[in-house]
Amino acid sequence: MSSALAGRRILITGAAKGIGLATVTRFLAEGAGVAALDRDAQALAGLRGRFEGAVVNTVQADVAEPASVAAAIADCVAILGGLDGVVNAAGIDLVADIEAMELAQWSRVLAVNLTGPMLVMRAAFPHLRASGGGTIVNVSSGAGLSPLKHRTAYCASKAGLQMASKALAMEAAEFGIRVNAICPGAVETDLFRSGINAEPDPQAPQYEQGKWEVAEHQGQAPKPDSSARIGIGSKRLPPHKNNSLHTKERTFELRM
Ligand SMILES: NC(=O)c1ccc[n+]([C@@H]2O[C@H](COP(=O)([O-])OP(=O)(O)OC[C@H]3O[C@@H](n4cnc5c(N)ncnc54)[C@H](O)[C@@H]3O)[C@@H](O)[C@H]2O)c1
Repeated sequence: MSSALAGRRILITGAAKGIGLATVTRFLAEGAGVAALDRDAQALAGLRGRFEGAVVNTVQADVAEPASVAAAIADCVAILGGLDGVVNAAGIDLVADIEAMELAQWSRVLAVNLTGPMLVMRAAFPHLRASGGGTIVNVSSGAGLSPLKHRTAYCASKAGLQMASKALAMEAAEFGIRVNAICPGAVETDLFRSGINAEPDPQAPQYEQGKWEVAEHQGQAPKPDSSARIGIGSKRLPPHKNNSLHTKERTFELRM
């Protein structure tokens, strides 16, 4: 059975680690052409030669830097020969109580988690239109639906990304472009582990959630590859205005 992703040209941000890397791995296995974008040049270099029989194209850029994003998207389109889809997985966490939080920390979280996906979508948009349509998947978080203590900036950035996705989905539908946000629960990655370790309050809900996940999964929260069902589906759905948010936590599937 041929995959819905076979031959499709997909840009994935945050591709060097965690959920982004699991998505790269799965998409390559499904026969997609992938451009892997990340700010971590060393981790990107580690991807080359990792996928037997499949080529992974790597592009180094910081999604929060407008000039860097514009150049990177142009490079990706040149490498892939066009663009059919984008997965915005790059993201950072911040655990900080409000009095200790620096303005620069707040601004960086918003810049990477909210402005970054906007910059990528804006730069990708004309190329998706030129392909006659496409799909954008923004990796938001359950933390954008339910608040977490000590994560004011992270929660605000992820809630903002959901609404930005909904609003853009309305604008994009007429061009055959679907825009969705997905909201994973805890997934065992560096971001998850460092967040749990940084949590100063053992009573905080996310600390409890982390412990619960660990217990439920016999020592392990879900691995990133269980999240790599993002964007994979058996058939392509037509774009419409109200499909921009899928909020099932921990298991989710979007159709490209
Ligand atoms: N792990 C979880 O429990 C969880 C839950 C819900 C949502 N998410 C979201 O999933 C996404 C991926 O998270 P993860 O857990 O895989 O994290 P991770 O830290 O394992 O990987 C994130 C990747 O993004 C890259 N990145 C960070 N800032 C960047 C920037 N400015 N420009 C380009 N690349 C950048 C990093 O270098 C890294 O390779 C994030 O948006 C995160 O908020 C994660």
